[in-house]
Amino acid sequence: MAHLIVVSNRLPVTLAQSEDKWSFQLSSGGLVSALSGLKREMSFTWVGWPGKDFGAEDRVKIDSLLKENSCSAVYLDDETAENYYNGFANSILWPLFHYHPGEMMFEEVAWDAYQRANMAFATALLDVVKDGDLVWIQDYHLMLLPQMLRALLDERGLKSVKIGWFLHTPFPSSELYRILPVRRQILEGVLAADLLGFHTYDYARHFLSSCTRILGLQTSPNFVETDKRLVHVGTFPIGIDPTKFAEALATKEVQSRLGEFERKFDGMKVIVGVDRLDYIKGVPQKLLAFEHFLSQCPEYVGRAVLVQVAVPSRGDVEEYKQLISSVNELVGRINGRFGTVEYTPIHFLHKSVNFTELVSLYAVSDVCLITSTRDGMNLVSYEYVASQQKRHGVLILSEFAGAAQSLNGSIIINSWNIEEVADAINQALSMSPKQREANFNTLYKYVTKFTAAYWGMSFIGELTRVSQKADELAQL
Ligand code: G6P
Repeated sequence: MAHLIVVSNRLPVTLAQSEDKWSFQLSSGGLVSALSGLKREMSFTWVGWPGKDFGAEDRVKIDSLLKENSCSAVYLDDETAENYYNGFANSILWPLFHYHPGEMMFEEVAWDAYQRANMAFATALLDVVKDGDLVWIQDYHLMLLPQMLRALLDERGLKSVKIGWFLHTPFPSSELYRILPVRRQILEGVLAADLLGFHTYDYARHFLSSCTRILGLQTSPNFVETDKRLVHVGTFPIGIDPTKFAEALATKEVQSRLGEFERKFDGMKVIVGVDRLDYIKGVPQKLLAFEHFLSQCPEYVGRAVLVQVAVPSRGDVEEYKQLISSVNELVGRINGRFGTVEYTPIHFLHKSVNFTELVSLYAVSDVCLITSTRDGMNLVSYEYVASQQKRHGVLILSEFAGAAQSLNGSIIINSWNIEEVADAINQALSMSPKQREANFNTLYKYVTKFTAAYWGMSFIGELTRVSQKADELAQL
């Protein structure tokens, strides 16, 4: 049985200490669900950063606990972690990949830390990887890792390790990507992998044209030819685990919370928004569109609410701090303008909510409003559909989210066009039950077929296939 090593910036675990005993809890998320399908077919180890540094004594205990749970930690000192994660990953690559070059702050110290952190991952992997293993590297945090790991493996004669890399964000147009001062190094970093995966065909296309324009390489829709290897490029849209939502909906906890919400919002239309509070999610655009909707359709004043969950995120980065204050200001202004003693138009929750609360909120809502200005995929759209078997709520989805390319049956909007979004809210609230049901059926069929497990299996299936092909060619 092949062994799979999944590598991501963050280990999907929460480590907690009580007295001197450490406990371990696996977090949920797309990647964790993706592995549930693969676990039946292959053994695996998860390698990642535990989110902070630990002293030598704690490391020994944490390491053995992680090992029992098929995980392994890459420790980074605080300065490296700060400059690699908040610095290069989240203040340079993240804004650039999401078409916010104005927010990009290129600094050598961040680039140095990014190289150091990627090298720390490569070195840590040497303790885990054996010949013949498949290594699946995740996301923009680790774009130098394929090259660094390959070099270390080659030195040790481990020639049949196969490396895959998947990008969870958009890959921007080459016109934008070429702004990056270290554009060559980053491309060369990932091109040491055997298979590169993207959520959409457009992201793959942008990547290929960057390889041609910046590195002068030959490309075809599925390959990049380097002097060392043929690198395969593919499109693999991620999904969710829909059964988790169906099962939660059947629980007493969700049913009772849902009942409370139904009583609270009796006679009201509920529009839900759930986002990490990130400037790519277009939360200000959403608030402005809701304000415009209320002013254009006064019959809904007092009869429609927006419940916006804004999960705190990356609060150490300056742009995120500024976003919090502008969003707070907008919520206050709109509630002040349309609110009454009995009616609060926007319920703004700047916190994460637990799963019961989340599923109940999805289930009670008539509309889910997603206004990302750029988003690799956006799985909130999938989660909403998975929770709407009864109500057949309407999904309004930004054309700038990767999900818009798959989710037929939603109302697609340009999130920068406030008037268009306001019209879409009105259209969604007045849609006939028959149309809602037809749209829902199309959406639900897709979301329950193209799941996270399906995504994981397709990527690993393809990595195995391209590896076998390469081995056969090498033997000729
Ligand atoms: C995006 C990225 C992920 C990241 C997540 C949360 O979806 O593609 O790699 O884990 O955001 O961000 P955080 O910085 O909290 O890990």
